[in-house]
Amino acid sequence: MIPADLSTLDDIAEAVHPSHPEDTTVFAERLRLYPEGCHVLERDRAIAGYVISHPWSGAPPALNTLINELPPAPTTYYVHDLALLPSARGNGAGAAIVGRLIDHARQTGCATVSLVAVNGSAPFWHKLGFIRTTEESLREKLKGYGDDAVLMRARIST
Ligand SMILES: CC(C)(COP(=O)(O)OP(=O)(O)OC[C@H]1O[C@@H](n2cnc3c(N)ncnc32)[C@H](O)[C@@H]1OP(=O)(O)O)[C@@H](O)C(=O)NCCC(=O)NCCS
Repeated sequence: MIPADLSTLDDIAEAVHPSHPEDTTVFAERLRLYPEGCHVLERDRAIAGYVISHPWSGAPPALNTLINELPPAPTTYYVHDLALLPSARGNGAGAAIVGRLIDHARQTGCATVSLVAVNGSAPFWHKLGFIRTTEESLREKLKGYGDDAVLMRARIST
């Protein structure tokens, strides 16, 4: 992903996550802070999906919020957003990029990969080894993500 991709990300986010709007500044900040964790999927020379991720520590950041900096001692690798246009789904691209992120997360030394599953995507994540976390204190943080939000985590060996 490069900064010039951000306007297309906005369009995809609006189409895929209408109930979870985020400002371009949020995407731009994550790309600036951690470009290694930001990727786009190209189909027929057009961007058809994206993922944003970065090392993190503690509870998930609130939706549509700047984090200003990455934690000095990250404990989890956080998948902020994964969104594919409908035309790009069902061909293994989602599973493939998550596999690459997990490989990358191992190199960061994080013990887990975590995310907030929305849009009924929890079964997809479950197939890839993520389980729902039961920590009540973290669940409280999910309220801004909507009623179907589920915090999920995969333990990875480093
Ligand atoms: C969720 C999403 C990333 C999946 O990407 P994808 O490329 O379509 O998924 P894949 O083709 O790699 O599927 C991998 C496996 O998960 C399954 N799967 C995919 N989406 C699923 C879903 N919503 N529910 C249940 N299973 C799902 C597939 O059937 C496949 O199973 P298999 O290995 O047994 O064949 C994509 O559908 C998407 O962008 N959805 C809208 C945005 C979204 O919900 N993002 C996640 C927010 S946290």
